[in-house]
Amino acid sequence: MPLLEPLARLFPFTMRILISGGAGFIGSHVADAYLSLGHEVAVLDNLATGSLDNLDAGAKFFQADITDLPRLQQIFGEFRPDVVSHHAAQISVVDSIESPAYDAGINVVGSLNVWQCARDCGARRFIFASSGGAIYGQVETSPVPEEQPANPMSPYGLSKWAFERYLTLLHGFSAPTPVILRYANVYGPRQGRQGEAGVISIFGRRLLEEKPCVIFGDGSMTRDYVFVKDVVKANCQALERGDGGIFNIGTGQQVSTLELYGMMEHLAAKGAQNPQFAPQREGEVLRIALECERAAATLGWKPETPIVEGLKQVMAAMKSA
Ligand SMILES: NC(=O)c1ccc[n+]([C@@H]2O[C@H](COP(=O)([O-])OP(=O)(O)OC[C@H]3O[C@@H](n4cnc5c(N)ncnc54)[C@H](O)[C@@H]3O)[C@@H](O)[C@H]2O)c1
Repeated sequence: MPLLEPLARLFPFTMRILISGGAGFIGSHVADAYLSLGHEVAVLDNLATGSLDNLDAGAKFFQADITDLPRLQQIFGEFRPDVVSHHAAQISVVDSIESPAYDAGINVVGSLNVWQCARDCGARRFIFASSGGAIYGQVETSPVPEEQPANPMSPYGLSKWAFERYLTLLHGFSAPTPVILRYANVYGPRQGRQGEAGVISIFGRRLLEEKPCVIFGDGSMTRDYVFVKDVVKANCQALERGDGGIFNIGTGQQVSTLELYGMMEHLAAKGAQNPQFAPQREGEVLRIALECERAAATLGWKPETPIVEGLKQVMAAMKSA
């Protein structure tokens, strides 16, 4: 064991934090923030959708698949995290419908592998990136609070909810303490085209290339778009607060696909392009926004970035890439 390890464990402000999926869009921003707070950070990722380009040199990197339990045991035994931030996942709704067993193999069984290793190495906290956009299903009233019964419309939403239920159940038996963050549609620099808010990175790239964008449905579908820097702040608050809780992390505001397209077209400042329309996709919720009063009261967290400001930053990052 390295000489400094016992000191790091005694000094409560410096934590050893392992981020699964930390080479991906959200996880890499969380890793940057934890490093800047002075924590020791390790990233565990199979690079399925993540990239080494997203990683800060200060983070230790382990290439591994969360479905490979023996490899995870080896990594957790070596790094011995105090806190695990679990962001690794199969994130495609479409793929989850096509291959639900594959989705559950990663998002349920793989997630349980990560939890089991966290427990066995004595981690005290387990922060889970869940999905408010996919768990509640189609709701009557919006913004939707955490008390709303889950009613997922896709295997992806179901697998996220199933692992939440495991976390809550297992909390009754043993450490680590879970904190469940139900993200709305997260957007920001480094986002790929696959995820729940991938529409922003897809529209952005196509508008800058002056190619037409495709809108699924009639454009009236709404989402709650939350900027990644705000999501990162929630992950920082969750290091110390929110024991055992479930928290919506969004803005409470619904934005329609047509409104989003209009804002992005304006920011792209290219010639006007008419969007193309295609049939609504299966498994998609039509309207949703998340109520975030609980996160305000318990985590001391509120979203701070207006959507136009966040979109400006995304478009600027895309233009300079
Ligand atoms: N982006 C959103 O709007 C959103 C909304 C709600 C919840 N989430 C959740 O947040 C998390 C991060 O999402 P993201 O948007 O950053 O996606 P992402 O694809 O950029 O990140 C996922 C990361 O997990 C890694 N990964 C995938 N399968 C793995 C496996 N089997 N073993 C190890 N690593 C694996 C990928 O390589 C990638 O780096 C996911 O759990 C996702 O479900 C995202």
